[in-house]
This record gives sequence, structure tokens and C-alpha cells, in this order.
Amino acid sequence: MNRACFISCGSYLPERIVTNDDMSKIVETSDDWIRARTGIRQRHFASEGELTSDLGTKAAQQALDRAGLKPEDIDLLVCATTTPDLTFPSTASIIQRKLGVPVCQAFDIQAVCSGFVYGLSTINAYLASGQAKRALLIGAETFSRILNFEDRATCVLFGDGAGAVIFEAQQGAANINERCIVDTQTYCDGTLTELLYVDGGVSSSKTAGHVHMLGQEVFKHAVEKMGQAVVDMMAKHNLTVDDLDLFVPHQANQRILNQLMRHLKLPQEKMISCMALHANTSAASIPLALNLAVESERAKKGDLLMMEALGGGLTWGTALLRL
Ligand code: UT7
Repeated sequence: MNRACFISCGSYLPERIVTNDDMSKIVETSDDWIRARTGIRQRHFASEGELTSDLGTKAAQQALDRAGLKPEDIDLLVCATTTPDLTFPSTASIIQRKLGVPVCQAFDIQAVCSGFVYGLSTINAYLASGQAKRALLIGAETFSRILNFEDRATCVLFGDGAGAVIFEAQQGAANINERCIVDTQTYCDGTLTELLYVDGGVSSSKTAGHVHMLGQEVFKHAVEKMGQAVVDMMAKHNLTVDDLDLFVPHQANQRILNQLMRHLKLPQEKMISCMALHANTSAASIPLALNLAVESERAKKGDLLMMEALGGGLTWGTALLRL
């Protein structure tokens, strides 16, 4: 068995910044409401013609540059996205071409806001089993394209962006004392699809559709399910919060993170929060937060990180990473 060792990360946010005040010109809302209920201050929206693959390619290029790697060093390229450029081919295929990665394994993962955790779980399996040597995992979204700008309850919450990570197989099984993806656990409860969904799709309406969410319900599930998943992952590895250096959660709502911190008795300095800067970017949210943590040196080589997410499906999950 091999283990998957973190090599580098990168991120990209589109140039166009849309503040809460800007949103209040589109729907009946206010900076006060959005900040108080979510912690969000602004979001980035892709410009016309700027695609999910463009954001993903820029984040991936930064991760490659920082690692001193060339496109040909990648033999597995996975893109977690809910907003692909096209129904097919996969956005991973398009990013492969744009980056100049020669023939490799490439595919998309669709688990909405949990996509990056599902992606970590997938690349870990490929790297651990010897099916790949070096994996590029991207979370990229142009969520603005599926927002209903007449629905204030959802359109103020999301933004566009991308994050990317590179992992490499190293000899020896995963082990909590080594730098590697220590463990991942992913979940889905398809009986809860109606809480968060898009009202369109290739097979149903031949359109992309728009986001619908029962916010309060999703909020409750997020606190409960992510909290329990973290507790279960810690118990599985005999960990207490003191053993964890940083939580890198999905960035949906600061009040969800506050409740998680209370539930887990976690001090604020152990939780990275950046939804103020870019709102909820779905599958891009955790790699954007991770990139910020690494750039600001809040996450350092050898630190033990807990990642957790919840999204449409409902899907949720955790990943334990020794950076
Ligand atoms: O990434 C996937 C996971 N997603 C999440 O985790 C999101 C989870 N849910 C949430 O973050 C929160 O439920 C929301 C931010 C979506 C909503 O916050 P809330 O505190 O649950 O608000 P609410 O839905 O209970 O709405 C309270 C009030 C309502 O007015 P009334 O009925 O009390 O008069 C809404 O109509 O706020 C109103 N409202 C707004 N007011 C101003 C809803 N959206 C807005 C808005 N601006 N944008």
C-alpha cells in the first residue's frame, strides 16, 4: 500500500467582486442581513465566457508552479464540480487539455458542496492502490450560472471560484504520524434531495435549472451531520480536538461554523473561515480555505487538519489530512 502525500495547492477567484450592497440592487436584501445571517461580505462572479474549466485551470497551474511540477508529471486529474462547462466531456478533460497534461486518467466528481471531500477520498484510493502516482484534484465552480437572481434566499449565498491540490504516492500505508491523507469518510442520504437541489437537468428538463434550498433545514442537518462525522472520525483515530491543528470546513455560513465550534469545544483560532471573502463556492470552498490557510501559514507542514463538508444530496463527509 502507498499513502497520498500533500505536495502543493493553488486557487483562483474571478476578478469581478460583487459586494452585499451590489446584491441589494438586484434583490430586496441588505449588507446587514447577509453579514449577520451568514458572515458573507462579498462574492466573485465569473465574467461572461469565463468557464469553470478556466477557473480550475488557473488554480491548477498555480499548484503546479508552486510544486515545480510540469503538466506531464500528473497522471490523475479529478475535478469536483456541480457547474461543468458542458454536459460532456468532463470538465476534467477540458482542464487536462488547457493545462497541457498528456494522456492520463481524468474525470469529474459530482457531490455538490461535498465534492472536494469525495474527491480526496477518490484520489486517495487511486494513489494508495498504485493506480496513480501523482494526482491533481480541483474543486471549481461557476455557481452564479445556476442562481435565481429573483430568489433572495439563495442568490446572496453563493459565488464562483476554484482551488486545486496536488498529492503524490509515497511508499508505505497511511499512518497518522506521516504526512498523508490519513482517512476519509463520505456519506449520502438520498431521501433528503428535496432540501437542496436544482430544478433542471439534462434528462428532466434539458436545462441547467436553478438552485432551490430549504435553508433552515439544511442548516440543521449541516450542524448535526458534520458535527457527528467529525466526532466519529476523531473517535476512530483516538483523537481529541487538542490533537487537531486546524479545521478546514466547507464555507457556507459562519453561524454553522460557530455552532460546530461550540459543539466540538473548539477555539476560534483552530477554525479557518473565509466565506466573508468569496461566499459559498460549493466544491471549491474547502480547497480555497486550505489554500488561504497554507498561504497565511495557519496550516504548516506536518499539521493535522480536519476537513468537513455538507451539500446537496444530501452528501457530507470528513477528511483527515497530515499536511
Ligand atoms: O453549501 C450547502 C449547504 N448550505 C448551507 O449550509 C446553507 C444552510 N442554511 C443557511 O445558511 C441559512 O438557513 C440561510 C442563510 C439560508 C437563511 O438564514 P436563516 O437565519 O435560516 O433565515 P430564514 O430562512 O429563517 O429567513 C429569515 C427571514 C425571512 O423573513 P421572515 O419570514 O422572517 O419575514 C426571510 O424571508 O429572512 C428573510 N430573508 C432575507 N432577508 C433579507 C431570506 N433571505 C433574505 C435576504 N435578505 N437575502
